[in-house]
Amino acid sequence: MTKFCFVIHPLSFEDVVRYEPGAKGKGRPIVAKILEWMPPYAAAHLTGIRTPDGRETEGWFVAAPLLPQQMLELPREQVYERIVGAIRVGAELGAQVAGLGAFTGVVGDGGVTVAQRAPIPVTTGNSLTIAAGVRSLFRGADEMGIDAASSTAVVVGATGSIGAACVELIAPRVAHMILVARNETRLRKFHESVRERLPCASSHTTAIGEAVQRADLVLTATSSTQDVIEPGDLRTGAVVCELSLPHDVSRRVATERPDVLVVEGGNMRVPGDWRAERVREPGTDFDLNLPAGTALACMSETMVLALENRCESYTLGRGIDLDRVREIDALAERDGFALADMRAFDTAITREHLARTRAAAEQRRAVSA
Ligand SMILES: NC(=O)c1ccc[n+]([C@@H]2O[C@H](COP(=O)([O-])OP(=O)(O)OC[C@H]3O[C@@H](n4cnc5c(N)ncnc54)[C@H](OP(=O)(O)O)[C@@H]3O)[C@@H](O)[C@H]2O)c1
Repeated sequence: MTKFCFVIHPLSFEDVVRYEPGAKGKGRPIVAKILEWMPPYAAAHLTGIRTPDGRETEGWFVAAPLLPQQMLELPREQVYERIVGAIRVGAELGAQVAGLGAFTGVVGDGGVTVAQRAPIPVTTGNSLTIAAGVRSLFRGADEMGIDAASSTAVVVGATGSIGAACVELIAPRVAHMILVARNETRLRKFHESVRERLPCASSHTTAIGEAVQRADLVLTATSSTQDVIEPGDLRTGAVVCELSLPHDVSRRVATERPDVLVVEGGNMRVPGDWRAERVREPGTDFDLNLPAGTALACMSETMVLALENRCESYTLGRGIDLDRVREIDALAERDGFALADMRAFDTAITREHLARTRAAAEQRRAVSA
């Protein structure tokens, strides 16, 4: 059996407590200081991942316990060392391929340097995240009754590893694509490099709010540690597919915009009966803040590589190969992975929720007509 490890890190102080219940009640500055010096460790043992034809894998979540802001602000070498150290912990436990969770795959050059220094092959998991994100966006469009072919789509974080590939995969299915990021020069150059290939009208802007206001479909994949989409930014009846971790969409959207459908785009149902058991407290489950049987798409990519015995650095850096996105999507499907049920703001999106969202959008359109 080929085994894997996946590097995790807390996205917030709430996550720190989820990882380490002993941190509850401690002041945030103290917790941050402890994390700054905490060595990597094996957080959970993952078992029960089984394909429909009976292939199995097991692995470990290994923690590189830094917050997103620390990943961005601490000296780059210190952060790389923490991530590579986590992979070494996984390799010593028997992992043959490693995945990079959230900011561990964003920091610096998007996994390239980490892969050069790690003892086993490394993937960011971004290929399957892209495939899942695009599927989630159009599933949301179907649910909201949006005619995608005549719609305007916005990708926020369009020059990123995930965003750039999403631009190319979404463009053939919409009428107009707006590319959004902060660095205008990089954004313009990227747009110039893809414009000819995009089969729809396209434009770019650094004005996030203005772009989002024009969009029926929004996919967001930034490396921001703050909210970038606020309730007032969104068009009536829009669908927002959120791939960023931590999230880009303000939680206020949940209460202030009942007419908008926000979906976490990177959640997948894992085949088999998988379980994440805390390494330090055997017998207790590790709380990933996801429903049972669900993993992130980047974790799923790492599991698929292990199930397929493909111990290779599959996805690294920016400029992702779309053929790899299609290949890992097909392998994941063959191995029994599927999009998880819709969810946002830590809550399942039920049929009733969808009906209410559609009705609220219709009502808002009627009022403004
Ligand atoms: N759900 C999952 O399974 C999963 C898997 C992997 C990664 N992720 C998450 O996906 C996100 C993107 O990852 P990546 O590897 O594509 O990152 P990346 O290559 O660093 O790209 C980040 C993009 O976001 C833009 N950006 C950063 N801050 C911004 C802001 N405040 N407003 C607008 N644009 C901003 C960047 O351009 P500018 O700097 O020019 O703005 C760039 O286009 C991260 O949050 C990561 O944790 C999720």
